[in-house]
Amino acid sequence: MNDILFQPLQFRNLTVKNRLFRSSISGRIDHYDGSGTQARINWEKKFAKGGVGAIISSHIPVDPAQRILPNYAMIDRDDLIPFWKEVVKSVHEYDCKFIGQLSMSGHQQDIRGVENRYRLPLSSVDGSEHFHGITGKAMSTKQISEAVRKFAEAAGRARAAGMDGVELHASNGYLFTQFLSSAINNRKDEYGGSLENRARFLMEVVEAVRAETGDDYHFQVKMNAADHHDDYFLNFGKGNTLNEGITVARWLEKAGVDALHVSVGSQFPHPRNPIGPLPVESAAITYPAMIPSGHLSFWNYLTFRYKIFWPLIQWLWRRKQPDVMEGINLAQCKAIKDAVTIPVLCTGGFQTASLIRNALENSFCDGVTIARPLMANPTLPLMFKEGLDGAPKPCSYCNKCLAHVLVDPLGCYDESRYDSYEEMMDEIMSIFKNEYF
Ligand SMILES: Cc1cc2nc3c(=O)[nH]c(=O)nc-3n(C[C@H](O)[C@H](O)[C@H](O)COP(=O)(O)O)c2cc1C
Ligand code: SF4
Repeated sequence: MNDILFQPLQFRNLTVKNRLFRSSISGRIDHYDGSGTQARINWEKKFAKGGVGAIISSHIPVDPAQRILPNYAMIDRDDLIPFWKEVVKSVHEYDCKFIGQLSMSGHQQDIRGVENRYRLPLSSVDGSEHFHGITGKAMSTKQISEAVRKFAEAAGRARAAGMDGVELHASNGYLFTQFLSSAINNRKDEYGGSLENRARFLMEVVEAVRAETGDDYHFQVKMNAADHHDDYFLNFGKGNTLNEGITVARWLEKAGVDALHVSVGSQFPHPRNPIGPLPVESAAITYPAMIPSGHLSFWNYLTFRYKIFWPLIQWLWRRKQPDVMEGINLAQCKAIKDAVTIPVLCTGGFQTASLIRNALENSFCDGVTIARPLMANPTLPLMFKEGLDGAPKPCSYCNKCLAHVLVDPLGCYDESRYDSYEEMMDEIMSIFKNEYF
């Protein structure tokens, strides 16, 4: 088959059968202690079966005190390796590769687990993040070294579990962004100030992961091309620019990273990621879970709860959003790709075969990663293979899945895409039914 969509992508240490990757989609479907469930296995299998070449896992916390929400499968202990072996085995059955995304939340911790109930999550800085007002505490240099060690050990466990590679979640507001971003990091030591200093933590982790996993293991980094921190906030700077993103990309390549996964946005969610409206109606239902988390979360809740605030909050959210939904990050991704020689993956709204083909043929990226459109249509790659340009019922980018993730199972919650509410629930709950697979 000559279609570029289905040509293998050759990384230095890994070959993926096509150019369609499942991007990370996190959800609270595991046990509180970080051990995994059959539902997680079923979830991943669903996409492998649907034809993607590789799955990038939802973020896997490398330390319980650094998890974004409880009930995510973690990789902070050796006894979790057998579970991940099962996940890997089940997606390999479909000739699909599995890349584990290693993460630390920093202060962007939506719902605290018991481990941080009476203490603050560690971040690059003291004080609170700007969206929910969740407060963190600046890490000491000793705590930074411990974090570096935890990432490296987790990467070793990922390899021991048979994962085909690891990705660092160094984008979208989590701990690495809290160090990298000039809009967030105000440290006065060697981890703050210049871009080189702000990137120091990331580069130390890269070096430690490489040392732990060896030179023959696939290792990629999800990074921000740019922060666009002022897209939502009227009173803060824009954070890292595209030029700074390009510099970090070059440093990562030089440090031996095998691929880059390009995203944007200094926080999660962000007006550009995932692109679409702020799902205020769904958020009004699920956001109360976050009210204790931050000093701005009660105010946010009121704006979601009362319609009178919706025009204001949607204006803030949409005022700098580009009109384009699909391939929103392509231009910035191309700027990164032009600056490095390693393969570059791009995230952001992809769900049309012709558009993806065009992006690949014109060297905007080497592969695309897809989250919501695959949640809406897990067999999208098979549809492309059959010659369809898109799914009959595409993802509407409504972002309801995102709002639900705080308290409900993973899935597509746009009822208008289903024949009935019952059909929607059947689809969402299917991952809990083993006989479904
Ligand atoms: C419910 C949900 C959970 C997500 N979880 C993660 C995550 O754990 N790690 C990550 O890097 N990105 C996460 N993302 C972002 C996606 O991987 C992707 O980069 C983003 O949604 C844009 O792609 P899309 O338009 O194909 O959805 C999540 C997105 C959604 C909607
Ligand atoms: S709820 Fe469904 S349609 Fe809406 S953004 Fe999520 S996956 Fe797409």
